[in-house]
Amino acid sequence: MHQNAAEFAAQNDDVFGRIASRYDYLCDIFSFGIHRIWKRRVANKIANEKWDTLIDGATGTGDIILRVMANASTQGRTVIASDLSAKMLAIAEQRLLSFKSNVSLILLDAENMPSIQTKSVDAYSISLGLKICNRHLAMQEALRILKPSGRLIILEASNIRWGFLHRAYLAYMGICMPILGWIATGGDASAYKYLLQGIRDFPTAEELAHELTSYGFEEVTFERLSLGIVAIHTARKPA
Ligand SMILES: C[S@@+](CC[C@H](N)C(=O)[O-])C[C@H]1O[C@@H](n2cnc3c(N)ncnc32)[C@H](O)[C@@H]1O
Repeated sequence: MHQNAAEFAAQNDDVFGRIASRYDYLCDIFSFGIHRIWKRRVANKIANEKWDTLIDGATGTGDIILRVMANASTQGRTVIASDLSAKMLAIAEQRLLSFKSNVSLILLDAENMPSIQTKSVDAYSISLGLKICNRHLAMQEALRILKPSGRLIILEASNIRWGFLHRAYLAYMGICMPILGWIATGGDASAYKYLLQGIRDFPTAEELAHELTSYGFEEVTFERLSLGIVAIHTARKPA
C-alpha cells in the first residue's frame, strides 16, 4: 500500500534543515497567516487532553509545542519534542527555552523511535508532518509508544469537500509554493516540492479516519478547518 504521500527520504537529504531558518515566515506567506489559527486549535486540543507525558513527532520549529505550553493546564507536564532535522530542532530549542524544565528535544525519526520505550507516553501529536512520513510506520510507532488508552492528535492537510474549490486551492499551491519556496531558499525548492506532493496525495479526512481504524486505533474523530484545507484527527489506543 502507498503510505508515504510525499515519498520523502529525509534520512538521505536534510531538505527541512535547509529551510529551517525561514520555515515559520514561509508558513505565514503560504497560508496568509491562517496556519496560526490551525495551530492554536490543535494546541488547545492537545493541551486539553489528559496526559502527563506527550510526544510531538515532526515538531519542526516547535510552533505547536510553544502554543501547548502557553496553556496554563500544561504546567508541570512533560513534553518530548522530536524531529528528524537537527536544524529544525535547534530553532525549536531556542524558542522553547522558557519551558526547558518541561520540554526535552530529541532527534528522532517518527517512523522509528527506538529510544522511546514501549507504552511510555500518554499522548502523541504530529502536525503537518504525517504527509511526508511513511504513515503506516509512523502510526505503528505511535501505537507502540502510547500507553493503553493513550491519545493520538493529528493536524494534517486534508480535502475541501467541494471538488472545484479543492482543485483551485491545489492550483494556487502548485504555482505559489515552488516559486516562493525557490525565491526564499535562493534556488532550492526541494522541501516545498515534497510538501506540495504530500498535500496533493494525502488521503481525504474520511480515508485517514478509516486508515487509523485499520491500524488499530479506536474512537477516531475528525474536524475540518478552513473548509477542509486541513483537518484534526483524534483517536485512542485501545485499553
Ligand atoms: C511541515 S514541517 C511541520 C513542523 C511543525 N510540526 C509545524 O506544524 O510547524 C515538517 C517537519 O517534519 C520533519 N520530518 C520529516 N520527516 C520526518 C520523519 N520521518 N521523522 C521526524 N520528522 C520528520 C521535518 O524535518 C520538518 O521539521
